[in-house]
Amino acid sequence: METSNVDVVIGMQYGDEGKGKIANQLVSTGEYDYVFRFNGGGNAGHTIYLNGEKIVTHLVPCGILHGIPSVIGNGCVINTQKLFDELEYLEGFGFDTSILKIAENAHIITKDHILEDSKDTTIGTTRTGNGPCYKDKVSRTGLRAKDIPELESYLVNMYDLIHKQPKKFLAEGAQGYWLDVDFGDYPYVTSSNTGVGAVLNNGFNYKQVRDVVGVIKCYSTYVGAKGYQKDDERFEQLREIGQEYGATTGRPRQIDWLNIDEVNTACQMNGVTKLIVNKMDVLDQVKCGWNFYQDGILNCCEDEGTFMLKIINHISRYNEGIQIEFQGQLH
Ligand code: IMP
Ligand code: MG
Repeated sequence: METSNVDVVIGMQYGDEGKGKIANQLVSTGEYDYVFRFNGGGNAGHTIYLNGEKIVTHLVPCGILHGIPSVIGNGCVINTQKLFDELEYLEGFGFDTSILKIAENAHIITKDHILEDSKDTTIGTTRTGNGPCYKDKVSRTGLRAKDIPELESYLVNMYDLIHKQPKKFLAEGAQGYWLDVDFGDYPYVTSSNTGVGAVLNNGFNYKQVRDVVGVIKCYSTYVGAKGYQKDDERFEQLREIGQEYGATTGRPRQIDWLNIDEVNTACQMNGVTKLIVNKMDVLDQVKCGWNFYQDGILNCCEDEGTFMLKIINHISRYNEGIQIEFQGQLH
């Protein structure tokens, strides 16, 4: 019997790799019946340019921008007020939001969660209540979508959705692999799993995963409390040219050169079939910018072509059959 399948978009760095743009490109092919989010909540910020308009979403999958039914999966956490605000914002652009579905067993962010998160001083969280909400989920004291009367018309059971009839899904990741609660630089991580395994925890079985699209920028950024950026004025330049400010919090992102080992490990850990390298046009505007770390040593390439070749050679050696594509900032 034919079954559903799912292509997955995952960030291979610390979030803000341009996953929103790539998910939007994939959805535009018309190949998918459903788009869904499998982790995180309003801490995410996806910036999408559609018909010349800048649209920033936090929780709602990009399928809504294309009239494709979209699901907030059970791995996500939901601030209902923020959700309704976001739906209203999207309706303002003329999008039909009635095709949104919410997993009945997704967890709800409460005022107490936000209050607790607002006291964070060590991790540099987005203060959106995510961590405390996941904590209550695991403590078995949380509220779920099916406990909230205002959400009743949106509710869906993930088994029914995925397994009763075959459909093609696109799973839109949030944050990045190096913010994963297990494999990231703990405690400077988010409170969910951000890799391909998290897709399975939303009701898919392992045989249903098809393509895994890894997304990176050609340099690294990180937002949070740990010291990440070194003193180099080229990073200040990169921040301005690349507009490296948080889509959710407006915080300046800390910047460093690409770490090819981190990217390679993330590709291996997630079984990436296609790697997209974003923002090549941004790095092109920075003098002596074609640099990457390998084994902790900074490699400086004389030009873009050399940089591309070295990335392709290194990543291909450890990820057989992987496709690698380089893109600019907006498309
Ligand atoms: P939290 O997810 O709000 O608990 O924040 C934990 C860490 O993950 C902080 O360093 C945040 O800046 C980071 N983070 C969470 N969501 C995103 C995102 O969408 N992009 C980039 N960093 C994020
Ligand atoms: Mg973002």
